[in-house]
Amino acid sequence: MSERIYRVAILGCRGRGTAAARAYQQHPRCQVVGLCDLLPERLEQLGDELGVSARYDDYGKMIEQEAPDIVAISTGTEFHYPLAMGVLAHGVHIDIEKPLCQGLDEADQVLAIAAAQGGRVAVHHQGRTGGAMRAMKAAVDAGKIGEPRFLLGSGKGYYGGYGLMNIGTHMVNNMIGLAGHVRSVTATALTAGHPVTPEDVIPAASGMGWIAGEHITANLTFDGNVTGALLQHRMPRVDSTAYCLEVLGTEGRLFWRGTGAWHMGVPHDVPADEEAVWHGLDSIMPEHFDPAGAASEADYSFADDYVHALDEGRQHLCSGAEGLHVMEILMAIFEAGARRRQIDLPQVDRRHPLTVWRAEAGLGEPVEMPRPYSEWLDTEDLRLGR
Ligand SMILES: NC(=O)c1ccc[n+]([C@@H]2O[C@H](COP(=O)([O-])OP(=O)(O)OC[C@H]3O[C@@H](n4cnc5c(N)ncnc54)[C@H](O)[C@@H]3O)[C@@H](O)[C@H]2O)c1
Repeated sequence: MSERIYRVAILGCRGRGTAAARAYQQHPRCQVVGLCDLLPERLEQLGDELGVSARYDDYGKMIEQEAPDIVAISTGTEFHYPLAMGVLAHGVHIDIEKPLCQGLDEADQVLAIAAAQGGRVAVHHQGRTGGAMRAMKAAVDAGKIGEPRFLLGSGKGYYGGYGLMNIGTHMVNNMIGLAGHVRSVTATALTAGHPVTPEDVIPAASGMGWIAGEHITANLTFDGNVTGALLQHRMPRVDSTAYCLEVLGTEGRLFWRGTGAWHMGVPHDVPADEEAVWHGLDSIMPEHFDPAGAASEADYSFADDYVHALDEGRQHLCSGAEGLHVMEILMAIFEAGARRRQIDLPQVDRRHPLTVWRAEAGLGEPVEMPRPYSEWLDTEDLRLGR
């Protein structure tokens, strides 16, 4: 019996839609059958690159005409919720960019409509499916570091709250992939050196919802005797190589950065001195991945896991439920930083904790801020009197 080919449609054809399209198009079990964007030039560029002539400015029409199995929703975060609700109403599966939504109430509704319509949700945290993170997971599962005890993850140096929604979402998803779910959170959130106040609740750049905190340090308690820390600190410059994760265990430690993974046989309670050596781990990739192709290895692996999940009737490694739990952790970090107390998960109150906090202080809506990050940051520095 020949293997089923999954039909994939792309909703949003700029950077991330292009990355998703390249990954699905390169996969032998997928075919990109339709593209949708509001801007004709985006459709033309991606359509010409992939040789896809079915081009739409209305996703409903695209779904009706092309009958995709999966729709990749690759738009700004503020559009994730309405587009996911609209697309899932058609009974298809989605691959939605991270973060899943701006808040928990929205994310809950997305998962509810998916369940009602029989659609699956995968949240595009491709780091977790990438070859280096799979090598980390395999090393933990094989007992290479004994019992994992502590995880330390950091961001890229963006303004903390923005970094948390943008990059922290990936890191938290990586962390729960290795250590399991989070039961409670405490956090310190500072803006201009003082604990955040309700006035410091502001809309994030890039449509990522409400945030607070220029420098955020979060402490996470995972299932199974593991704790961790997540740093989202604004640094003098944004540096992608700073985005990394260390896992400390009773018999060794692991280090991950998007480009690779390493092991060191020094237990977590022993300082690693100058004699200590990191050994590279082999990335774990699908056999048929061709590195000479246009797809990035992590995006390709993400597509590959969707193929296997649908074949096997299981959830994607980065399922909607995992994406929702990531959002619970992000919202708990904001709430713990604002209220300066421990937050237990899952939260009963699903409203955005920062809007609730700001409203309780009697403050109205904060002023609008620019969408592009650099202009946004200039506006925030002005607010802080810099
Ligand atoms: N996974 C990652 O590594 C990663 C990296 C960067 C950004 N992201 C996420 O990707 C998303 C942004 O992706 P981007 O930078 O490609 O977005 P973008 O905003 O640059 O482009 C989105 C495209 O979608 C189109 N679009 C918007 N609404 C539409 C609609 N209703 N119908 C049809 N087309 C529509 C726009 O015209 C645009 O071309 C964000 O959620 C961000 O967090 C993920």
